[in-house]
Amino acid sequence: MLDLIERPRRNRRNRWTRDMMRETRLGPEHFIYPLFIHAGKGRQPIGSMPGCARLGLDALMREVEGARGDGVGAVVLFPAVEEALKSSTGEESHNPQGLVPRAIRRLKAEWPDLVVVTDVALDPYSSDGHDGIVSPEGRILNDETVAVLVQQALCQAEAGADIIAPSDMMDGRIGAIRAGLDGAGFTEVQLMAYTAKYASAFYGPFRDALDSAPRFGDKKTYQMDPANAREALREVALDESEGADMLMVKPAGPFLDVIRLVRESTALPVAAYQVSGEYAMLAAAAQNGWLDEKKAVLESLLGIRRAGADVILTYFARRAARWLKENH
Ligand code: PBG
Repeated sequence: MLDLIERPRRNRRNRWTRDMMRETRLGPEHFIYPLFIHAGKGRQPIGSMPGCARLGLDALMREVEGARGDGVGAVVLFPAVEEALKSSTGEESHNPQGLVPRAIRRLKAEWPDLVVVTDVALDPYSSDGHDGIVSPEGRILNDETVAVLVQQALCQAEAGADIIAPSDMMDGRIGAIRAGLDGAGFTEVQLMAYTAKYASAFYGPFRDALDSAPRFGDKKTYQMDPANAREALREVALDESEGADMLMVKPAGPFLDVIRLVRESTALPVAAYQVSGEYAMLAAAAQNGWLDEKKAVLESLLGIRRAGADVILTYFARRAARWLKENH
């Protein structure tokens, strides 16, 4: 017999002990469910995101009804915009009859308590596939873009959005959007800032889903360098001072250290986005029988929570909610 005073295994000896000692909780109340929508009818499967589809508005209503039944109460909408509606200045982004405002109105009419989150950025509407307006020399114009983003946010708020999530990474957009919303009386609409959004290769499948990849160049002049963590703190300070209600780190899995850093440097709630590429890796391995999908997905989400995220945006939201129920 070893002469051991400490035996950490004692606290792992049965399920009840483990349940009692667990440090991190994961539940459907932590999830926001990203959904792709299109102007046509039905579900269009997305090749690089097996299990996800672009949804027509009727299909969207069915999906949200199902998700609510599984315990998910928040969704975020991403539109696939017809090529003919795209332009260099993204006017369609603030068309009150556009796809996103129509979807918001239908959702909120059916379920007033559903939390509807909307994305603010020009890329789905941009003929250049960039989040901002591109100058003739190919530069992304910051201040001109912010003016359009404010209009986009107002259009979404007027349609009934609860949380507006600017993902564009232009400087000063949180303050400008807050001022625009407040000026129009939308003082209760929350802002979830994509605070530390990295120029990541893991957005590939999302850009397939929306056909929104940059037509030239990359997003490195506005999205952050994946090598940088300290720089995230500068963005945290700015988004806080400009009136953000929540801060986000994106992607999640490859940036768990940044989630932890942001968690420790703000009193605001922290969100993390398990992005399309993280989804694709897990879904593909599961499809091949190389991973146990349920266990691996729940572990990936638990890791994001353990790193310090209060809220997780994940394409697995609905399935994870169901799996968590089965575990009980
Ligand atoms: C648009 C936006 C992107 C994502 C969310 N909002 C793509 C991008 O910045 O290129 C990516 C989400 C994902 O990959 O799941 N600004």
